[in-house]
Amino acid sequence: MRKKIVAGNWKMNMDYNEGISLFSEIVNMVRDEKKGDQVAVICAPFIHLNSLAQLSSGVVKIGAQNCHQNESGAYTGEISAKMIKSTGSDYVIIGHSERRQYFAETDVLLSEKTTTALKHNLTPIFCIGETLDERNSGSYFQVIERQLTDGVFNLSAEDFSKIVLAYEPVWAIGTGLTATPEQAQDIHAFIRAKIESKYGVNIADDTTILYGGSCNAKNAPELFAQHDIDGGLIGGASLKSRDFTDIVKALNS
Ligand code: PGA
Repeated sequence: MRKKIVAGNWKMNMDYNEGISLFSEIVNMVRDEKKGDQVAVICAPFIHLNSLAQLSSGVVKIGAQNCHQNESGAYTGEISAKMIKSTGSDYVIIGHSERRQYFAETDVLLSEKTTTALKHNLTPIFCIGETLDERNSGSYFQVIERQLTDGVFNLSAEDFSKIVLAYEPVWAIGTGLTATPEQAQDIHAFIRAKIESKYGVNIADDTTILYGGSCNAKNAPELFAQHDIDGGLIGGASLKSRDFTDIVKALNS
């Protein structure tokens, strides 16, 4: 059975003390709502990872938002997968559209980052999704397929079964425009079908595919009720403990 996951992405928000206080609230609230096999994750800026891991009491897992593709060395200002793992984190977001857009990250680079993250026992949350132009021109299925092929379909079946995918239409991120449950389900089913043709039905069935893009406490129940949507990657709403907890609750939909 595939895992149900709600992962928050704080992006470049929360100074050190703000992060501690928000995370403590989240742990206290999520503790009462999360069912046994569901997973809640907060992907925080690097400065928070170690402190949050110590406060998590196993209730909320910790993730980073990026890692470098190389193991170590002269890359001033960068953070390696091994360093992230050493903070007590278990997840890392790879290929968020903001990284693709503002830091020119390509599928080939993201594929290297994924391999490095897996080598250090981090679970990559690998993001894919089309822009508004690509949606309007009707080329979005090809875009998603290319991102899968170049980004993660080079992995062995064993490694692929360790990753989480997140479908995040770029036009829905931070805009308040959510994909309708039907639009999202369509793409999630397409992604699962592509996984099935590459890796077979068992791995396809077991792959967790999250939806992201203006997901909130109100629309999460309907989105998560779709057959191929296994949870969410949450930006804005993960900065409020009540909203984030209600989205975790929506996993029961
Ligand atoms: P949003 O961001 O929920 O604020 O739209 C989602 C994301 O970027 O992961």
